[in-house]
Amino acid sequence: MSESMQGLHRSHRCAEVSSSNIGEKVTVMGWVQKRRNLGSLIFIDLRDRSGLLQIVFDENSVKAEGFEKAGTLRSEFVIAVEGEVCKRSAAVNENLKTGDIEVIATSIRILSESQTPPFQIEENSKTNEEMRLKYRYLDLRRPDIQKNLILRSKVLRLMRDFMADEGFLEIETPILCKSTPEGARDYLVPSRIHHGHFYALPQSPQIFKQLLMASGYDRYFQIARCFRDEDLRADRQPEFTQADMELSFVDIEDVLDVNERLIQFLFKETIGVDVTLPLPRMPWQEAMDRFGSDKPDTRFGMELCDVSKTVEDCGFGVFTSALEAGGSVRGINVKGQAAMPRKKIDKLVEYAKGCGAKGLAYLAIGEDGTYKSSFTKFMTEDETQELVRKMDGEPGDLLLFAADKNKIVWNVLGLIRLQLGEELGLMDENQYNFLWVTEFPLLEWSDEENRYMAMHHPFTMPMEEDWDKIDTDPGAVRAKAYDIVLNGTELGGGSVRIHQDDVQEKMFEVLGFTKERAHEQFGFLLDAFSYGVPPHAGLAYGVDRILMHMLHTDNIKDVIAFPKMKDASDLMSEAPGTVDEAQLEELGIAIVAEDEE
Ligand code: AMO
Ligand code: AMP
Repeated sequence: MSESMQGLHRSHRCAEVSSSNIGEKVTVMGWVQKRRNLGSLIFIDLRDRSGLLQIVFDENSVKAEGFEKAGTLRSEFVIAVEGEVCKRSAAVNENLKTGDIEVIATSIRILSESQTPPFQIEENSKTNEEMRLKYRYLDLRRPDIQKNLILRSKVLRLMRDFMADEGFLEIETPILCKSTPEGARDYLVPSRIHHGHFYALPQSPQIFKQLLMASGYDRYFQIARCFRDEDLRADRQPEFTQADMELSFVDIEDVLDVNERLIQFLFKETIGVDVTLPLPRMPWQEAMDRFGSDKPDTRFGMELCDVSKTVEDCGFGVFTSALEAGGSVRGINVKGQAAMPRKKIDKLVEYAKGCGAKGLAYLAIGEDGTYKSSFTKFMTEDETQELVRKMDGEPGDLLLFAADKNKIVWNVLGLIRLQLGEELGLMDENQYNFLWVTEFPLLEWSDEENRYMAMHHPFTMPMEEDWDKIDTDPGAVRAKAYDIVLNGTELGGGSVRIHQDDVQEKMFEVLGFTKERAHEQFGFLLDAFSYGVPPHAGLAYGVDRILMHMLHTDNIKDVIAFPKMKDASDLMSEAPGTVDEAQLEELGIAIVAEDEE
């Protein structure tokens, strides 16, 4: 049987021991990283979450039994060592925090043994992700993941501290809920007591936090787990964490102010980055026109340019027919890339098609001023010159154009711009370009549903100056909504909420909700608001995304202890799993066999 603690107390974590402890007795515990035998000396690298510490077993300092035990140690054994801190006898290891010291062991206990792990526990592991996630408990021992989770803990603590200082109350909201209006697919939980009825896991605490405002809690904050059954990407998980807040008796300015200070505080205290306030703001329309995205990465230029007017009478049918269909023609100027090989341009065209474009037209301006282009043969010399001038094209530039509906043109050029920005190394990862995107459209037309949908959610307040257009031109009404964007990622978003009955009713009408359906879905919120509700507004951050930026990782799994795979499964616990027939029966649920579906 392995030994146990029995009166032993850890005095330090491994990397907390330093040269200031030289001459002292310490007791350290952890995992064996590595063992080296040198005859009468055995060296152990001992690891815990703080780092590594070198332990030396010397036949002259430790009893024979202890020396023998040390000789049996293998990777990942858990041990406790008592010993004396000494200056390193051999060369100092500059790469290690404890590189100038070692502990000369006087006794050892083996607290537990280990099988040979399926992969080496080391920084920057080359082991494939599936293997690491299957053995996540081992993967979590790696120093780089530990560093990430330690920072995560710090971020959560700092947020709580800041919010408490600003007078926010931390209040928990239910996980078993009715469906929330965030617009993704719900995760459902069947009710045992009410057969045929389901709880929905919250996509966000949206409705509850608004109720808390109606109840007078004034300033609410929560580190909230949210669940969304949507297609996963590198920065999305089916369950993720929001830092969620709501404030009463406020307008946009108040929300932005407290959040700018929160961001400044957080980035300074964690990674030492100075964020200059106030943060820049950009209306949604400008973000789309200049960057083709509602979350623009403003670390580099290559902005979109609308050339619709310039080409409206030109001879290139692709351009003119897109304009006739109500679309636009826009371009980007990829400076100095005229010599891009044809193969690479073809790849961009394929990429554009993958993003929904019908094609991508190009015009390369040689150093000698001659053009190579996929479409200038359809244009007169003058039309081409005019287009190049409009694009500020100079010798050596590559001009790329898309012609289609606005939405497609923005999307395609926005994505091509990011792709090229990345390839050409235009994004400095040490630059933190925060930005508020504001004045979002209130509504978005859905071809699928053949109706307007709320761009944010149905409780978002329209801008007062646009409200008179709600019947005549609903698509032109802007919302009091805002997103906080960092280097091309939406870190968080929120809005001022509707607190007036008549506005809310109108909103539901425009969204095509009947009175009955609105009441069925959100009746309790509407009722609550009929008993006196303050004007209120809020915002929620994706905590995981904040961490990804602080740690410069583009994989959300790196900042979550037990993340899920792309197909929403957990490779370690094998969730989701099947359940007993008896459990299903209790829930009144029958599984439809796959071939019957
Ligand atoms: P929204 O839906 O914009 O707003 O979500 C807020 C933030 O949560 C993060 N996020 C995600 N992070 C990881 N994985 C996901 N699947 C995921 N989905 C969203 C993003 C996003 O900006 N109730 C409103 C907020 C409000 O109006 O106050 C809401 O949930 O960083
Ligand atoms: P085509 O006449 O269809 O061969 O197209 C001529 C050039 O225009 C090719 O380089 C196409 O990739 C490009 N192209 C086609 N459709 C579009 C579009 N909607 N927007 C921009 N370029 C396009």
